[in-house]
Amino acid sequence: MNEVLKAIRDRRTVRKFSSNPVDEEKLQMILEAGRWAPSFSNLQPWRFIVVRDLGLKIALDKAARESVLHLGINEAPVVILVCVDRRIDPLHAIEAGAAATQNMTLAAHSLGLGAGWIGIWGTETEISIQKLLKLPETVRVVSLLPIGIPDESPEGRRKPLEQSTQFR
Ligand SMILES: Cc1cc2nc3c(=O)[nH]c(=O)nc-3n(C[C@H](O)[C@H](O)[C@H](O)COP(=O)(O)O)c2cc1C
Repeated sequence: MNEVLKAIRDRRTVRKFSSNPVDEEKLQMILEAGRWAPSFSNLQPWRFIVVRDLGLKIALDKAARESVLHLGINEAPVVILVCVDRRIDPLHAIEAGAAATQNMTLAAHSLGLGAGWIGIWGTETEISIQKLLKLPETVRVVSLLPIGIPDESPEGRRKPLEQSTQFR
């Protein structure tokens, strides 16, 4: 298995983090991985918001509890909000946000970090976060990504490939 396939196979959603900080260089590499995601018509609608402020992380955690399962938002040293500008193409912008999120989770894993994908768009939490951060109406919040050094090693579980695949 090559490195890319191994990272895809071994990456897990991490919800518990040590309090150690995330290296600035690694954070930059994770943001770069997001930037290099594919997007419809190469529109690159991303607006990444990096949150380190504890007060803001606590407020995000409170907002997220309204509609999604709890992840370690308070505990993670860094939280990236993956937002997109929806003006040109709203649906494809969401897809681009998801592609960037996946790139970032894989990049974090490849750098010895863990990340947890919290889906935000279309939930009550999205509205709360838009208000909290005073985002313009044109910006959608696709996902919230707590990142840090993992303090857990979750098992991966998947259905057999035959259940999801047809060959015609
Ligand atoms: C779009 C999306 C939204 C998700 N939202 C949440 C969430 O709100 N809370 C959570 O604990 N995990 C969330 N997850 C993580 C999934 O629960 C996780 O990917 C799945 O259980 C498989 O585990 P693994 O990523 O460790 O392989 C989300 C994942 C995706 C792709």
